[in-house]
Amino acid sequence: MKILVTGGTGYIGSHTVVELQEEGFEVVIIDNLSNSLKEVVDRIEEITGKRPLFEELDLVDARATRDCIKKHHDIVGVIHFAALKAVGESVEKPLQYYHNNIGSLVNLLKALDEFDIRNFVFSSSCTVYGQPKTLPVSEQAPLQQAESPYGNTKKISEDILRDTVNTGKLNTISLRYFNPIGAHSTAKIGELPLGVPDNLVPYITQTAIGKRESLRVFGTDYNTHDGTAIRDYIHVVDLAKAHVVAVNRMLNNATKEPFEVFNLGTGNGFTVLEVIQAFEKVSGKKLIYEFTERRKGDIEKVWADTSFANEELGWKARLGLEEMMNSAWDWELALSKHNKEQ
Ligand code: UD1
Repeated sequence: MKILVTGGTGYIGSHTVVELQEEGFEVVIIDNLSNSLKEVVDRIEEITGKRPLFEELDLVDARATRDCIKKHHDIVGVIHFAALKAVGESVEKPLQYYHNNIGSLVNLLKALDEFDIRNFVFSSSCTVYGQPKTLPVSEQAPLQQAESPYGNTKKISEDILRDTVNTGKLNTISLRYFNPIGAHSTAKIGELPLGVPDNLVPYITQTAIGKRESLRVFGTDYNTHDGTAIRDYIHVVDLAKAHVVAVNRMLNNATKEPFEVFNLGTGNGFTVLEVIQAFEKVSGKKLIYEFTERRKGDIEKVWADTSFANEELGWKARLGLEEMMNSAWDWELALSKHNKEQ
């Protein structure tokens, strides 16, 4: 059975393609390579022994999208990752974010509708909850005004999907990710930030390897046990596996509603300082860091109520913080070795 993975050469997409292929699915990737490399397809082949089909294509191009879906009309489901995701950049270039993230979703849904492809898994984010009033946050928590255009595209996309599902011609599972980190155990795929990373873990590993001078810890006056902000970090491989479960749930007609939403986290929150300590422990490196003021738009603390995903999907995150940091560090070391050999 063939699954379409948009954004399949990206960070979460590539790990999901690996898990799908390990479970026997055939995969077609669509990616415009705006934030990823074509070599990722080779790496996926090295890991799984199978080469996914690859279509270089921008989903903002409606005609090309339709032609591609027509060509692959035998797909039984779609996992849609392709999107821009830099929060700061989205504040600078909101229209680019709306045009890209919303335009590509609409084009894709129209093409799927035309060829009667009904199973859709969407890559959403816990950013839709803002700062929740109660923790852990469940799927029932009220959504809040998005802090950034990026966050708003996730909220709007969920609305578009809900409305489309109401036509009776689409089933959707929306997966709200907490903070995905880490890399594949082979260190052949991982996060590949372009330029200076925004996110904590790539910044940590790049500082430790000497690409960055020092890490800034944003905010020390949060209402948490050590004053730094808390997130629910989840291993990207655990996250990828949840997508396979979601696809199987749809293919087995096991969904209970045509639009379902699941939190994907571990249920555990860690502060920035705890993440740094875990990194120092597994890498044996002392990290250079300094404390600075809060980053604009950051929330204080969030972690997931995972009970619905655990019970309904029968899925649970297995890998702990040290495994996450270990794999992230192995990946950075592999990247640095690769770059030296070039
Ligand atoms: C961010 C986005 C989120 C998005 C996700 C994916 C915001 C408010 N949220 O999550 O919507 O889905 O990225 O890209 O931007 N930190 C430091 N120093 C750094 C970097 C981060 O102290 O150099 C801290 C942050 O303040 C935060 C934690 O580390 O407390 C995690 O930050 P990050 O990895 O950027 O993820 P989020 O901000 O949670």
